[in-house]
Amino acid sequence: ALHKHPKHVEFAQDGIFGKFDRAQLQRGYQVYKEVCAACHSMNLVAFRNLTALGFTEAEVKALAAQSDVPTIDDKTGDETTRKAVPADHFPAPFPNDAAAKAANNGKAPPDLSLIAKARHGGASYLYSILTGYEDKPADVEIAETAHYNPYFAGLAIAMPAPLTSDGQVEYADGTKASIDQMAKDVSAFMEWAAEPKLEDRKRMGLGVLMFLLILCVITFRSYKKIWANVK
Ligand code: HEM
Repeated sequence: ALHKHPKHVEFAQDGIFGKFDRAQLQRGYQVYKEVCAACHSMNLVAFRNLTALGFTEAEVKALAAQSDVPTIDDKTGDETTRKAVPADHFPAPFPNDAAAKAANNGKAPPDLSLIAKARHGGASYLYSILTGYEDKPADVEIAETAHYNPYFAGLAIAMPAPLTSDGQVEYADGTKASIDQMAKDVSAFMEWAAEPKLEDRKRMGLGVLMFLLILCVITFRSYKKIWANVK
């Protein structure tokens, strides 16, 4: 009874005519990069995919170059790093699961590439988790390292509230970075990452409906005409 369903939040991509808000996705990427990426990987997303958010190729190149990725030095064979290029996938914060666990009280932060699809509620669920931390009710026992969040299935989540103050990021587009705004933006961004073809799918669905509608009219009128003289 303590567990809560996701809050009702409206996103630009909702509904049959829904389209992602490109500016919001860009802000969401900024939140992921500056806050979430300290703990969470997004292994399935490459920098070049960011052109879908409205960034130009040159901007994507510059964004990629802000990250380092591991590589092997050709001459010495030593492990080193190089600047990322658009073809690289987002770098992971930890080299492996054991390191991720060790840094997070035994719970590895999950990869966020598909998280919006993996949880019921999608972007609304993510928003709810991010804005849903509460003081623990007195009669509930949770581990000392856990945090009370009624939107999380287990009520006690290993992730400390990641968005804690207004202005935690300084948005490149000048939008006021309230906790609410950051939570919405990063949730929309994760929905895009999990379903980058959402708009194509909706466009196709609408096209199919239009086709069937027209076919329906043609079929009905043919039927009327063919049987017109039969009494
Ligand atoms: C789990 C999102 C930042 C550590 C999760 C989950 C999501 C999420 C969606 C999975 C919840 C579920 O299983 O249903 C985010 C977002 C962040 C962020 C959007 C940035 C705004 C961080 C940071 C840390 C962190 C900075 C580390 C300090 C963890 C850990 C878990 C987790 C350890 C596993 C929790 C558990 O299974 O109990 N996060 N996170 N996260 N996150 Fe984050």
